[in-house]
Amino acid sequence: MNISKQFCIIGCGRLGISLAVFLSERGFTPVSFCSRSGDSAKYAAAMAGRGIVYEDAISAAASCSLVFITTPDTQIEGVCEHIAKGGGFTGDSVVFHLSGALSSSVLKTARKIGAATGSIHPLQAFAPYEKEQKSPFSGINISLEGGERAVALGRQIVDALGAKSFTIPTRAKTIYHASAVVASNYLVTLEHFALSLLEKAGLGEEVAYTILEPLIQGTLNNIKARGSINALTGPVARGDDKIIACHLEDIDKIMPQFSQLYRVLGKYTLEIADSRSDLDSGAKEKLARLFQDRS
Ligand SMILES: NC(=O)c1ccc[n+]([C@@H]2O[C@H](COP(=O)([O-])OP(=O)(O)OC[C@H]3O[C@@H](n4cnc5c(N)ncnc54)[C@H](OP(=O)(O)O)[C@@H]3O)[C@@H](O)[C@H]2O)c1
Repeated sequence: MNISKQFCIIGCGRLGISLAVFLSERGFTPVSFCSRSGDSAKYAAAMAGRGIVYEDAISAAASCSLVFITTPDTQIEGVCEHIAKGGGFTGDSVVFHLSGALSSSVLKTARKIGAATGSIHPLQAFAPYEKEQKSPFSGINISLEGGERAVALGRQIVDALGAKSFTIPTRAKTIYHASAVVASNYLVTLEHFALSLLEKAGLGEEVAYTILEPLIQGTLNNIKARGSINALTGPVARGDDKIIACHLEDIDKIMPQFSQLYRVLGKYTLEIADSRSDLDSGAKEKLARLFQDRS
């Protein structure tokens, strides 16, 4: 089963434009664009080098069988329903959205008509498209979820983009997205926490990051080489409750806004250390007491 290479973009923002530009570079043809504002759709068509701009999403979707709904998440279900009710989809349509958090179930109005529906989620942060930029899809991982036909066709799209695909079950889409948020956004939160502590130690933000960077990179390398459980080092892994008690004494006194966060992270870290079964049981109890919630 080969995919029709003519496609439509509904929602011409960061992802919609990038998808149009880089699919065009890889032999696909943008046929139609529609966005909330005509200017965004015209800009997308200009960047992709071809395609007709429609004011109405129904006509845009009806002009070809492969349709990407790249609006914000909150709009996907309503846009799909609007097109489906207006006769913009047929049984030959293949409809994708690119949300990480939502599954293909939000495209159910298209599926009822017989269209193949799926979600394609690139694990990448997309900035607004800039002319001549390198492809943000190249070499990244992209999840596929949805009906069998959509997933099979999605694989061809991901291959064409020079990315790597993997599939997730529809029911697991939310948990999958939570994982991406923890891995990316909460890593930023964690490093912000570390930098705040170092700034309190008298080091400015720029130099603080430079100092921590090799440690951060080395830790990531260790996770890759040994897995997240065996990569754990430091006072919790060693069962050194005295050092942790000192940390908490200073944090509670100087930066009490971080007291609870340090304890919550410590508690979870203790569970990881304990799962290795090389932690002394006396030290484990002392650490568990130190990490107890004080709120
Ligand atoms: N950006 C990322 O890093 C990233 C990464 C992975 C997945 N995604 C997913 O990609 C999708 C698009 O995100 P984005 O970052 O590209 O958002 P964005 O930059 O805000 O673009 C969304 C576009 O949709 C248009 N739009 C809004 N409501 C519409 C409607 N009812 N009908 C038609 N067009 C509408 C917007 O309006 P105008 O026409 O007014 O411009 C805008 O151009 C989302 O599902 C998001 O979760 C984004």
